[in-house]
Amino acid sequence: MSHQTVIVLDFGGQYNQLIARRVRECGVYCEVKPCTTPLEELKAMAPIGFIFTGGPNSVYDEKAPRVDPALFELGVPVLGICYGCQLMAHTLGGQVTAAQEDTAREYGRTETFYDGSCKLFKGLPGRGVSWMSHGDYMAKVPQGFALTAHSAACPNVAIADETRGFYGVQFHPEVNHTEHGVDMIRNFLYEVCKARGDWTMGDYCRTAIAQVREKVGTGKVLLALSGGVDSSVCAALLAEAVGPQLTCVFVDHGLMRLNEGDEVEAAFGKWDINFVRVDAETRFLLKLAGVDEPERKRKIIGEEFIRVFEEEARKIGKVDFLAQGTIYPDVIESGAGNAAVIKSHHNVGGLPDYVDFKEIIEPLRLLFKDEVRQLGRELGLPEYLVSRQPFPGPGLAIRIIGDITKEKADTLRQADFIFRDEIAGAGLDKAPDQYFAVLTNTRSVGVMGDGRTYDHTLALRAVSTDDFMTADWSRIPYDVLDRVSTRIVNEVPGINRIVYDITSKPPATVEWE
Ligand code: XMP
Repeated sequence: MSHQTVIVLDFGGQYNQLIARRVRECGVYCEVKPCTTPLEELKAMAPIGFIFTGGPNSVYDEKAPRVDPALFELGVPVLGICYGCQLMAHTLGGQVTAAQEDTAREYGRTETFYDGSCKLFKGLPGRGVSWMSHGDYMAKVPQGFALTAHSAACPNVAIADETRGFYGVQFHPEVNHTEHGVDMIRNFLYEVCKARGDWTMGDYCRTAIAQVREKVGTGKVLLALSGGVDSSVCAALLAEAVGPQLTCVFVDHGLMRLNEGDEVEAAFGKWDINFVRVDAETRFLLKLAGVDEPERKRKIIGEEFIRVFEEEARKIGKVDFLAQGTIYPDVIESGAGNAAVIKSHHNVGGLPDYVDFKEIIEPLRLLFKDEVRQLGRELGLPEYLVSRQPFPGPGLAIRIIGDITKEKADTLRQADFIFRDEIAGAGLDKAPDQYFAVLTNTRSVGVMGDGRTYDHTLALRAVSTDDFMTADWSRIPYDVLDRVSTRIVNEVPGINRIVYDITSKPPATVEWE
């Protein structure tokens, strides 16, 4: 697959993936590489442009990440964002210093004035709000650079050396808060890097199918299908490519949402593949009986899942390829090291080395989540599968606080279904990025009819997020919450109180366990 490539060089900025997504949204393929990647490796990718991300450092810190100055000799355009801009300025002979209080240090929304004759701002309004986040200041810009944008506090919000194709901005064009930010990225790609815009999902789909066919030949492929977006799209792609050679094992651990198992089965009925649905509810519930510690639940489910899958795999015999729905965000290596592990996310798609197979294939490895969804549509998967919100591998087990029983799982399933039904009915199903119900282990006194009740409290959770690393709680209209609450307490036995979770992440997490 030879697409024109832009390299996003990651200096540890929090928006590195967002930059990459924006580039791809503009129809140009790009990859995120750590800033420590050797220049030879970057050169071998024959990029048409580089984008340097922001980062937490100051360029004059001794340990600050650097860039090989020879990169600027390649004749390839560069767009530096925030730290990336300062680093470029510093490397090319400019001077960057800590900004004095209240002078050129800027955070958040800032009124900015752009020079429309600069290619980066071509065709855009001369002023607008940009999202700043820099404590450093370019006291002297390098030779050959002109100042192309300013704000009240800062004369050099953007710099450009148009002859060499080097551009730098102190703000973040990739975030939504920057007006016309995506247009600036598009200008960099099309006006400066002369991109063709050859990254389309239709093309990708055809090429990926051909590649899978070539690689698999007459071999057998095994895939663990969880019913989530990634593994479903992976299954659809493989089905299209090598249908009869594919076996999808769908382990139904009994902790899925209402009707989910049937929906998954129905969606794959149309392809000529071997679809195995394992009803393993009883054995999972048995293993989980009496367990209330979240990490323990995850571990038990992970292990049991592997056991069930292994048994099924043995029935098939030798397979040649184990397929996984790994997607690009799982693959990107950050330039700034790894963050602390808060929860041991068990992803049912990820299986290690216990099945006898020759090779792993990961056909979604290059795609972001929204691209995976697009690919799913190309392949004709139903919208309810393609636009499905994320669902954790351990399923409802981590949404039932305390010990798990079938009765509690059924109660939660019903309540969760009503919540989703009302959200969809209110036309809000594309608004929160994830929404679900949690069965707490708190019971409280209520009154129903003339009688006293002592039943469970159910929590509703809905969040908006770009990447699930941080999230804000969704402002669902009160009347929708009211309908959800009324329906649940009336229709679901065992629940007499509903609460709405209004914590963001951090300090909370999306899931309760
Ligand atoms: P947290 O709760 O960590 O969730 O803020 C962030 C996102 O990850 C999902 N999640 C999981 N996904 N296995 C998964 O495959 C897990 O064990 C797991 N735990 C949380 C969660 O639903 C949210 O989308």
